[in-house]
Amino acid sequence: MSALEPWLLAGLARLDPETAHRLTIRALKWGLAPGPRDADDPILRCRLFGHDLPNPIGMAAGFDKDAEVPDRLLQAGFGFVEVGTITPRPQAGNPRPRVFRLRDDGALINRMGFNGGGMAAAAARLHARAGRPGLVGVNIGANKTSADPVADYVAGFGALARFAGYVTANVSSPNTPGLRRLQEKEALERLLDALLAARAAAGLKVPIALKIAPDMTADYRDAIVATALARGIDAIIVSNTTVGQREGLRGAARGETGGLSGKPLLAPSTAMLGAIHRQTRGRLILIGVGGIASGADAYAKIRAGASAVQLYTALTFGGLGLLAAIKRELAARLKADGFASVQAAVGSWDGPDAMLG
Ligand SMILES: Cc1cc2nc3c(=O)[nH]c(=O)nc-3n(C[C@H](O)[C@H](O)[C@H](O)COP(=O)(O)O)c2cc1C
Repeated sequence: MSALEPWLLAGLARLDPETAHRLTIRALKWGLAPGPRDADDPILRCRLFGHDLPNPIGMAAGFDKDAEVPDRLLQAGFGFVEVGTITPRPQAGNPRPRVFRLRDDGALINRMGFNGGGMAAAAARLHARAGRPGLVGVNIGANKTSADPVADYVAGFGALARFAGYVTANVSSPNTPGLRRLQEKEALERLLDALLAARAAAGLKVPIALKIAPDMTADYRDAIVATALARGIDAIIVSNTTVGQREGLRGAARGETGGLSGKPLLAPSTAMLGAIHRQTRGRLILIGVGGIASGADAYAKIRAGASAVQLYTALTFGGLGLLAAIKRELAARLKADGFASVQAAVGSWDGPDAMLG
């Protein structure tokens, strides 16, 4: 990702996207990213999982997979940060190239495959920052060759939950074979029960979120939400990348295998969020992610039912300047519509889902 100043952004845009991303992480580590020029508008203040946030815009999972720069991202102006996906054992992921820009579509296709340094290294980093302010969620997953994926989530939870503001079980990456099958009713019940038992055994209160895919029928989606409600987890994150939505893409990489993110995901993921909000009506916290590239997009997700939102892909094209613009536009839209806070606007949309996004 290229999260820096325009001149740097132009240079990074010429590099292979994964190389650009590595350089951006390094630059953030060195403290080279600019902090926000202005303080956030007070209307953007909100609460998520018991934390006071300066704004509801989070960095989505996948950018800081190894929890290397969560505090730098908070300093750069994100309201919260989700690190990961972190797997128990280190793994290389799929062969490169595995991230592709579709510039004309405002999209990326990736098939990273949970590359990362594993939970012990991430736990050490998160331990080192323990006690610092800011909401940092930890997204966990299973190793590719795991014989028992549920055990991997329990292991990840055991190693990382005590350092997390919330824990996300990612059952929706299309790039680990079989992972999305954990969304099926019995497998999902087993996973959520195991995580809830691990939380109780550890004596922790850390909220548990489930991150789901956008590619499913309404019945399948309803079943996931019903299971989440029945088991009593805290939140759903809607959504991960899509394996659909390829028609109409213009980028030369449109035929690549992997998950599509960015603009083409905005409408389907926001419509899904709206449907889940109608089913849950505040009984679960919803986080909206998928295709946000403007304050209007973030606002649409909040009105559809998201208490907070996340983004990744648009930042690779627009840099951190885009984050500031999104926050400014969101504040202006809230005021123009007479909302006194983000919370007041959550779920306020009562039109058809198809018009969201
Ligand atoms: C290169 C890349 C890597 C990603 N890796 C992860 C990941 O490890 N875990 C995860 O839950 N989501 C991952 N995502 C999905 C994002 O968190 C997000 O759900 C998705 O990209 C939609 O948001 P966007 O359109 O703003 O990018 C990744 C996305 C991209 C583009």
